[in-house]
Amino acid sequence: AGDKLWGGRFVGSTDPILEILNSSIAIDQRLADVDIQASVAYAKALEKASILTKPELEKILSGLEKISEEVSKGVFVLNKSDEDIHTAIERRLKELIGDAAGKLHTGRSRNDQVVTDLKLFMKSSISVVSTHLLQLIKTLVERAAIEIDVILPGYTHLQKAQPIRWSQFFCSCSGPCHAVALTRDSERLGEIKKRLDFASITLNSMDAISDRDYVVEFLFVATLLMTHLSRLAEDLIIYSTSEFGLVTLSDAFTTGSSLMPQKKNPDSLELIRGKAGRVLGRLVSIITVLKALPSTYNKDLQEDKEAVFDVVDTVTAVLQVATGVISTLQVRLCYLLTDRCLCCVLQMPFRQAHTAVGKAVHLAETKGITINNLTLEDLKSISPLFASDVSQVFNVINSVEQYTALGGTAKSSVTTQIEQLRELLKKL
Ligand code: ARG
Repeated sequence: AGDKLWGGRFVGSTDPILEILNSSIAIDQRLADVDIQASVAYAKALEKASILTKPELEKILSGLEKISEEVSKGVFVLNKSDEDIHTAIERRLKELIGDAAGKLHTGRSRNDQVVTDLKLFMKSSISVVSTHLLQLIKTLVERAAIEIDVILPGYTHLQKAQPIRWSQFFCSCSGPCHAVALTRDSERLGEIKKRLDFASITLNSMDAISDRDYVVEFLFVATLLMTHLSRLAEDLIIYSTSEFGLVTLSDAFTTGSSLMPQKKNPDSLELIRGKAGRVLGRLVSIITVLKALPSTYNKDLQEDKEAVFDVVDTVTAVLQVATGVISTLQVRLCYLLTDRCLCCVLQMPFRQAHTAVGKAVHLAETKGITINNLTLEDLKSISPLFASDVSQVFNVINSVEQYTALGGTAKSSVTTQIEQLRELLKKL
């Protein structure tokens, strides 16, 4: 253990299999830049506190700059004995500037470094994720604006419910309201970023190294975001089947079958749905590590970085694929048949109209035709209140245009929703 940072009190060496389990360099070398950044700030603070002389500070800063260059050029060499990125950078600094390197670690442990580094890394990663998320929301909203006149069936229980505007599906306030849900995720990311900031010092030093709330919060928000994307993906997978035939995905985001030439498989959307499971797994793993962990630093916490890196990479890729799918898919116009405004036409209470329509649906089914092909006589056999004006309820435009309330599917309502989303986007 002689070559280790902590080797002084050891005479025996570490078991080789423990060396492997303990080593985190393969994962945390990704923190090299932020580790150097944090050390630069710390060295300056040490000089202010008269722990480093001005020449020592300069030596350290120039050494750190050299290491930073090596990292960015991809020539920073890791040694087998480098336990983690903090050890590796300290070892290299010593090679470059000699014993002054050791002074940089006065009053600071790797436990402090790892927290500072991870917070710095997450601050910039969350900004990247947020940018891709905003791009996706914009894509949804702008498509909704362009295709405001497209009408599709709305579903509950995956059974046709009522006609809706396609735009409302993309950005409404009900159902799996995609753009709106995503704006909430964007706000949540912004809140984590605020808490991650170093605008002031932490209130309690033990909490400072104990705390991984920001990791859990990020993994949770990412899981919720992935859940929203997974539901959107699921909708579109179903809508793209030939059975539903509502949308066609572009070639760029589908794959074929080596066996069956007719197939166009929605792999992009299936991957989004599948990755949601992966991200949830990361959240569960970290919150399980934290549960019952004694205060302050314990080596269990080393698990945090792999989870964060994996989720950042996964979410970043998924958001870009989702944007690609949404901006390139084609939607097919379609129409629905029955609808609730029958009660207005029939001038009867909704419950009675509901029963009358139910009977009409049943009659049409027994005759093997659709409800709009029933004759007026057929309908009159159900209720004498049916008259020739019944035909207007089979018009989908009449149908969607009834819903003018806030959040509804009438053109005016959806236009308002789009405008509100555009306003919201300016603030995100
Ligand atoms: N590699 C460690 C981690 O990722 C750094 C902290 C090590 N601290 C310690 N006392 N062993 O958590």
